[in-house]
Amino acid sequence: MQVVSTIKEVKDLVKQWKSEGQTIGFVPTMGYLHEGHGSLITSARQDNSKVVVSIFVNPKQFGPTEDFDSYPHDLEKDRRICENLGADLIFHPAPEEMYPKDFYTHVHMSVLTEELCGSSRPGHFNGVCTVVNKLFHIVQPDHAYFGQKDAQQLAVIKQMVKDLSMDVKVVGCPIVREEDGLAKSSRNTYLSAEERKAAKIVSETIRMGENIVKAGETDAKKLVAAMEATIETEPLAQIEYVKAVDGLTMKPITKIKSQTLVAIAVFIGKTRLIDNFIVE
Ligand code: PAJ
Repeated sequence: MQVVSTIKEVKDLVKQWKSEGQTIGFVPTMGYLHEGHGSLITSARQDNSKVVVSIFVNPKQFGPTEDFDSYPHDLEKDRRICENLGADLIFHPAPEEMYPKDFYTHVHMSVLTEELCGSSRPGHFNGVCTVVNKLFHIVQPDHAYFGQKDAQQLAVIKQMVKDLSMDVKVVGCPIVREEDGLAKSSRNTYLSAEERKAAKIVSETIRMGENIVKAGETDAKKLVAAMEATIETEPLAQIEYVKAVDGLTMKPITKIKSQTLVAIAVFIGKTRLIDNFIVE
């Protein structure tokens, strides 16, 4: 496995691989890898002859009061994880490599970015679309792997690929969880021991929501109210949103049906956690 930091090194390797008829699977990440990222790399390994993982904490997708400066990193551990999972290449660029001083182009998406994390994190999805677009141009993957954990991000990337006629197949992968249900996240490391216990409420609420829908509830308002009431039983939890939206457009819906996305964002202390389920 190689670790490179320049766009030219990646492009040269990709050119060589393409000329040999290799297929490329790509897993974009911000590093501090865990089993959630690992499941994406494993899927990429199964479907492609070459696997590229990018590790880049993208400044453009963080708001001014967010955790860009404190985002956790451990490149040596990430390197070991990628190597063990059979990745061929890590692309780990410096911010100036991706965004030189004279960088002026951004990708903006409307509609899908107006609700959920899009409304609470203004500019976030423009940052995501811009960096993923650029990474796709550099890596030229046949398949790119994204987690259902970030359900809105997955929908946004699929829409961008469709809108811009990109030759990439976007593959969504299931949420990987801790033993007690908490969705794995690089940000879980911010939680104190007490907060970590309280964080269980997030996945418990998701499981409860799923059960309510399975029992036949179709009224989105009632579902949301029941989920909010559950979160409120945890004193350390502060609701940012609990929403039921159309799984493709991310627009709010009133009646729950197949492919509805039910998504929540909750602060446990200062740490923002997200989770979701899709109605079967
Ligand atoms: P990051 O948060 O590092 O996540 C990288 C990928 O791993 C995303 O597709 C995310 O959905 C997936 N992932 C994270 N936790 C997961 C879990 N518990 N189960 C399954 N998949 C999980 O998402 C980003 O980085 C960035 O926005 C990025 C796409 C790299 C653009 O900067």
